[in-house]
Amino acid sequence: MILEKIKNGLETGLVGREICCLEEVTSTNDKARELASEGAEEGVVVVSERQSHGRGRLGREWISPEGGIWFSVILRPKIGPREALKLTIITAVAVAKAIRENLGLDARIKWPNDVLIRGKKVSGILIETSTSHDLIDYAVVGVGINANIDLKSLPILIRSTTTSLMEEMKGVVERESLLQVLLMKLETYYYVFTEGGFDSILGEWRSLNCVLGAYVEVASPVGTVEGWAIDVDGEGALMIRLKDGTIKRIVSGDATLKRFMEPFFQAEPIEHDSVKTFGDEP
Ligand code: BTN
Repeated sequence: MILEKIKNGLETGLVGREICCLEEVTSTNDKARELASEGAEEGVVVVSERQSHGRGRLGREWISPEGGIWFSVILRPKIGPREALKLTIITAVAVAKAIRENLGLDARIKWPNDVLIRGKKVSGILIETSTSHDLIDYAVVGVGINANIDLKSLPILIRSTTTSLMEEMKGVVERESLLQVLLMKLETYYYVFTEGGFDSILGEWRSLNCVLGAYVEVASPVGTVEGWAIDVDGEGALMIRLKDGTIKRIVSGDATLKRFMEPFFQAEPIEHDSVKTFGDEP
């Protein structure tokens, strides 16, 4: 990626104040964590052409060949580790909006961290935090976007559930301008969040999501639950209604969409006393 192209016209004060452009790295999250632990300021961005050991959520590998947008941003919000899920929500909204505005594609969010086009994954988010005394010292927001990726170069197992911007646009996309728009959106939402406006971002998340109203199966390290996805709460946790009518609040996991409610999904009021939290810490 060409650093000057990213910087030229980048209207941010914080995110991208310093951009470290690399050819190859194990993982941009590794590099960003290293910089953060050495005291790098918030807003520093690490972007790489390739990652030799790209990481996905839940210990999965993230295939990161040349042509993608693989980057991480260091943030230092004054929040506890439980609020990290909110950073995922903010980032997902920024990614979906940037793709929609820059390329006109119908990007949608699948809770908690996937961005899909025509139901196929085009982007994922991995947030890693370091905490001290119950407060986040730093958060590394890692984003992977399959930009100019030929689907044939991906393992056959993920090909049917994955797409790329190049595939959707039927041509090469300009990665620098998309990254620029995305960094600007991330900064805007981050400021809204730090100034107490998370609820308004959740409103945007709701309008972009493709999970609410669907029957989902959510797999997490502590087991699998399935039910109707009825809402996300003020913390960004997914609320699902099980077959027996009880409501579970899910803070982490991987949602698979099974089917949709017909004819139209109608959110029902939730009695918060009866809600049980499920999943490990976000
Ligand atoms: C997922 O969907 O499982 C999350 C994927 C996150 C991938 C990005 S690419 C940039 C950053 N560096 C990594 O190693 N992972 C994230």
